[in-house]
Amino acid sequence: MEVAEVAAQMAATSLGNPEGRVLRRITKIKKILEADVASWAGRRVLVGGWVKTGREQGKGSFAFLEVNDGSCLANLQVICEASTYPLAELVPTGTSVLVEGELKPPPEGVKQRIELKVDQVLEVGPVGEKYPLPKTRLTLENLRDFMHLRARTNTISAVARIRDELAHATHAFFRQNGFRYIHTPIITTSDCEGAGEMFQATVLFSQAEKLAKEIKENPLPTESDVEAAKLVAKEKGEIVAQLKSTKASKAEITAAVSELNKSKETASRLEERSKLTPGIPVKPDGGFSFDSDFFKKPAFLTVSGQLQVETYACAVGSVYTFGPTFRAENSHTSRHLAEFWMVEPEMAFATLEDDMDYAEEYVKFMCQWLLDNSREDMEFMVKNYDKTAIERLKLVASTPFARVSYTEAVELLMGVTDKKFENQVEWGIDLASEHERYLTEVIFKKPVIVYNYPKGIKAFYMRLNDDQKTVAAMDVLVPKVGELVGGSQREERLEILKQRILDADLPLEIYEWYLDLRRYGTVKHSGFGLGFERMILFATGLDNIRDVIPFPRYSGRADL
Ligand code: 4AD
Ligand code: MG
Repeated sequence: MEVAEVAAQMAATSLGNPEGRVLRRITKIKKILEADVASWAGRRVLVGGWVKTGREQGKGSFAFLEVNDGSCLANLQVICEASTYPLAELVPTGTSVLVEGELKPPPEGVKQRIELKVDQVLEVGPVGEKYPLPKTRLTLENLRDFMHLRARTNTISAVARIRDELAHATHAFFRQNGFRYIHTPIITTSDCEGAGEMFQATVLFSQAEKLAKEIKENPLPTESDVEAAKLVAKEKGEIVAQLKSTKASKAEITAAVSELNKSKETASRLEERSKLTPGIPVKPDGGFSFDSDFFKKPAFLTVSGQLQVETYACAVGSVYTFGPTFRAENSHTSRHLAEFWMVEPEMAFATLEDDMDYAEEYVKFMCQWLLDNSREDMEFMVKNYDKTAIERLKLVASTPFARVSYTEAVELLMGVTDKKFENQVEWGIDLASEHERYLTEVIFKKPVIVYNYPKGIKAFYMRLNDDQKTVAAMDVLVPKVGELVGGSQREERLEILKQRILDADLPLEIYEWYLDLRRYGTVKHSGFGLGFERMILFATGLDNIRDVIPFPRYSGRADL
């Protein structure tokens, strides 16, 4: 290539900024591999990534590197001459490289589509010692011991891309439908689900620890220390009185008064300090005292942003929140995490029927989004984990969900003869995962929405139906996962809601603000929560929820 031509192409790979500095523009491997060979061959690019495998060839005169930059599953084949860099430092798996060169069509009969012939190795992050991830494929379970490196594997990076696509799909769907994105708090003083599964947010423990350490270094004054200090103050007081009665000079009296004040201060400081008690402060009735805690009352990590997002639904109309939620459930299942992300839309002037319609449309939208935007990663899932993953997305995107009442669902399950459930089915039970999966996988063979659940097994805020026995709740159940979505029409009638809070043994005071939404301009409204990781499990066909969130937290485990 001519020098001028090279310069022009270098300019095309660089990006000017207002200060006139030239930023280097890295070309993503996805972009290179997606384009047709003819349009890319001969172009100069800058590529940065990590070596998946590398080998020296031609008696050490050049090396082939399979480089992955995380933009897609496929690697770019990179060829480096020995003259550009010491090859032995480039070939170890895990090495990072920033290289520049020219794209070339591969020789006839070779399966790579296009390769990069490097003429400059700009940066290298060497792998000093042995790379911690072995060459042989680890199981996903073993990979969890390498939380900081597992994103470098094909599976975990594919999941990360699918997760990102689903987050984009979520915002796209709600935006298209006129919803506003509201950030609800992570720290809350209300328990949304009333299930007592909250993590407490407190500084009492760290305060107690600090005090214990301080006391160890500087022991608390004893009663006699305090008495002695008080005695000193008393003596100083007597001196002042004496000076006053003998009509001493103003200067003398002022000095003695200042001494007296100092000794009084010391005595009261000592007395105050002698009253410190190490440990967590306790009230006279035996309960913990939160007066010295950060928020001066018990506070928790949220289990759901619903209650708070309702305040915005009752002002802004259609809203949603999408954020992390926390549950201290000790369930060691493949479907539960202690920290998971939830998408929670809430719609004013909406009934249970509207709620079901939106949930169905949203799930379908996400399935279609992945079919349109994550083909390569989904094909990888099909090849390696679940043959039916793409078929499932297609089916869900195109077929109406079944809808049955809880009562009908229980009747269907009671009629099952070909399977013995571990948990016996009768009207009033909370459906177990085995029942949910049987309904969606065996009976309906597609997603099913179960609605109108017994009030006894559902949260206090769900609207009481006219039968007085059931509430306007709905769960979306899907194959592979079971419960994906839980939602309801909310109780908008003040007196009934009050009674439901009392019946659930929850303290009314804490929910006064929630009741105010019913006192002032109450409105029929509905919403639901979709477990974001459950959606990824459903889409990818992976078996364990711990592999679809970057940093899983569950009982006994919170790495990094
Ligand atoms: O059914 P849930 O408990 O509903 C709520 O929290 C409502 N406040 C939502 C609302 O109406 N705005 O939880 C909603 C969904 C479940 O259907 C499930 O998909 C997921 O959240 N989920 C979990 N996902 C992972 N780990 C856990 N421990 C989960 N608990 C619930
Ligand atoms: Mg639920």
